[in-house]
Amino acid sequence: MTRLTHAGENKIAKEVAKTVSVPKVMPIYMSSVFSFDDVSTLDAVYDGTAKGYVYSRMANPGYDAVQEVLATAEQSDDALVFSSGMAAIITTIISQVKTGDHIISSPVLYGGVYDYLKNELPRFGVEVTFVDFNHDNIEKYLKPNTKVIYTETISNPLMEVEDLPAIAEVAHAHGCKFIVDNTFATPAVAQPLKWGADIVVYSATKYLGGHSDFIGGAVMSNKENMEHIHRFFTLYGSIMSPFDAWLLARSMRTLELRMKQHSENALKVAKFFENHPKIERVYYPGLDSSPYRARAEKLFIEGRCGGMLSADIAG
Ligand SMILES: Cc1ncc(COP(=O)(O)O)c(C=O)c1O
Repeated sequence: MTRLTHAGENKIAKEVAKTVSVPKVMPIYMSSVFSFDDVSTLDAVYDGTAKGYVYSRMANPGYDAVQEVLATAEQSDDALVFSSGMAAIITTIISQVKTGDHIISSPVLYGGVYDYLKNELPRFGVEVTFVDFNHDNIEKYLKPNTKVIYTETISNPLMEVEDLPAIAEVAHAHGCKFIVDNTFATPAVAQPLKWGADIVVYSATKYLGGHSDFIGGAVMSNKENMEHIHRFFTLYGSIMSPFDAWLLARSMRTLELRMKQHSENALKVAKFFENHPKIERVYYPGLDSSPYRARAEKLFIEGRCGGMLSADIAG
């Protein structure tokens, strides 16, 4: 019975690797650790002279597969997947700052990220200034130790569309990294890297995942930034499970179709609410009445504005 512990593992995996066919859909590699015939082969993988996987906190074929899909969608050099959007965002921010540094952020953010910036980072000696990017001048708040400017493409919950190229210009003139949460837009609506963002972060739990069946996060950027963030990814260990990576890759195949339909549906709902007696105000950048309509037209793909809208109820 002791043989059962290893029967059907390595031998079959090696035989499959030698076949001339490949599965149409990427398999799920539910393996925390990978095995090697000898220590010198393991060493070769560690020192980068051979391609292989060692331990799934560092890399897994399923992450590589979904990361390729994500990088293709975002037109970035590379991508990384995380156990949640918060994990992706916090790991990315931590990778860019140290005690004594300063961050400028929009105050209109997903609540968890706002809480982290306002209450957690100061505990580690990182100062955060919240600036209304649409009504104030960011440059006034820049300091010599400002390292990061942070915002969302479409802000949660007021649906403001940020002027990404203008913010990027300020960030780069001062040597700061511009990090954009593109969760509400997705790469089927906006691609912030094209508009000057350095790093794009996501809650993949929302539209990228699209089926409400897992929690996940993603980060996309150029090679240099991704290599830097990868160190923190393996160190902090907030990795996505191989099964969730598989679900995310599946979901990404239909992202554009879904976002087109979400955008159409949301515009119809927004127009309906705009004329509803019980609604005081509707926030949706696709509406002609939105102060962000022209900016959305310029920055967003085919005028799509995504599926999120908000409203003030009368009374
Ligand atoms: C815009 C935005 N960013 C980040 C997050 C955090 O993502 P997660 O819940 O996957 O950790 C959320 C969650 O609602 C969000 O709406």
